[in-house]
Amino acid sequence: MVKKVSIAVVGSGYVGLVAAVCFAELGHDVICVDNDEKKVEMLRNGGVPIHERFLPELLDRHRNKGIVFSTELGEATRKSEVIFIAVGTPQSDSGHADLSYVEAVVSEIARSIDSYKVIVEKSTVPVYTNEWVRRVMERHGVERGHFDVVSNPEFLREGTAVSDFLHPDRIVVGADSEASAALLGRIYAPITDGSYYEREAAVPGPLTPATPATILYTSAQSAEIIKHASNAFLAMKISFINSVANLCEAVNADVKEVAKGIGLDGRIGPKFLNPGVGYGGSCFPKDLAAFRWVAEQQGIDFKLLAEVEKINSVQKKNFFNKIRAALWTLRGKRIAILGLAFKGDTDDIRDSPALDIIKMLLHEGCVLVAHDPAATERAKEVFPESAQIRYVDDPYSAASNADALVILTDWQQFADLDLDRLNKALKFPIIIDGRNLYDPALMLEKNFTYVSVGRPAVY
Ligand code: UGA
Repeated sequence: MVKKVSIAVVGSGYVGLVAAVCFAELGHDVICVDNDEKKVEMLRNGGVPIHERFLPELLDRHRNKGIVFSTELGEATRKSEVIFIAVGTPQSDSGHADLSYVEAVVSEIARSIDSYKVIVEKSTVPVYTNEWVRRVMERHGVERGHFDVVSNPEFLREGTAVSDFLHPDRIVVGADSEASAALLGRIYAPITDGSYYEREAAVPGPLTPATPATILYTSAQSAEIIKHASNAFLAMKISFINSVANLCEAVNADVKEVAKGIGLDGRIGPKFLNPGVGYGGSCFPKDLAAFRWVAEQQGIDFKLLAEVEKINSVQKKNFFNKIRAALWTLRGKRIAILGLAFKGDTDDIRDSPALDIIKMLLHEGCVLVAHDPAATERAKEVFPESAQIRYVDDPYSAASNADALVILTDWQQFADLDLDRLNKALKFPIIIDGRNLYDPALMLEKNFTYVSVGRPAVY
């Protein structure tokens, strides 16, 4: 039997909405609060604002039962034992996270509080935010004994967010009191004792049978650092393999073989060793800058992070140069673009490397025909349709009569294309693949000029 906890989740963005519906899925009573009335109305009426696997099904399952949507933070605070803050922490001009939304939410909680509450940071925040939350509460006259602050960072990836949430590698709870640690433990109990996985309609995870999740209790400061350090480490892995890929190209080695060879070492691991066009998204670029700022504030020169960022930015230019090298001149060339999102399985284009590369191609006077299974509408807001760029509904129309095809996002659909059809559609069978979706030997057999990342090109 699930011991229900009444929960408010403030912010219905990526992290907030997924967390809210997953808490309902675990059996708790959830109020998801957002100050955007239109969004709340949409969610109440069955709308789903983001493209995410299993999200529509879970929203349908729990709407108006385990989860309700509201604009009333004060009321939600009074009705809940635990309040998760999952509002945006955008990057400010100097690189640090802008925490004004967090502060506004905490002030409102302080004005509404009427009994002991646990306030949880779910948004990615710099170390010591827990201390600031505590101070803001006290400045509003709330006594220490009436609340606790916990850091419970989220490690979900866009595209697999629901499954990541319900099948986590670990749950980190940075709590400085036993009462708050116990309450968080109760919330996650169905996945730490494994009972959730026995349910017939449980969301599937990567392992069968699913294994119970591990919960790690730390101090609040450590939990805050764990979040930033995890993202920084993953970004470092990507910049590392991108640098190795460049070296492989220079000496005719194959980075896929190299990544496999190093990833088999248990101390390194095989994940996040795919080279490409550089990392993007709403997390890695922003979190790296924020983590560097945190270190700077403490007088620590974390140079490695700056280098990770630099390699990432150069990687996009390297890829653009590959396109140029494959086509010689660019002005007036018609190029098919496959992929706009920052990675496959998402409609998110925030900090997408694809957009940076498109910008460079447009600047050089190319004519682009782009396709993405989910991100087109968002991309149109950045690059509206014009004589130089238009958007089509399928990859073969994009390829039709193009001088070359460029792959920028790792959608599975792009790895499954009918190569003979593609070859016929293109004016010249040239593919420059920024995601290594194809085997060069196969591409040679199919008569393509195929240029990828960190592997010998085939002609
Ligand atoms: C990332 C982390 O993976 C999550 O653990 C974390 O919770 C999340 O940020 C966050 O802080 O909210 P996400 O940004 O959704 O998740 O996407 P990832 O799958 O990590 O990919 C990030 C970028 O790295 C993408 O552009 C992707 O294409 C690129 N990437 C990833 C590579 O170039 N190579 C790889 O091997 C893996």
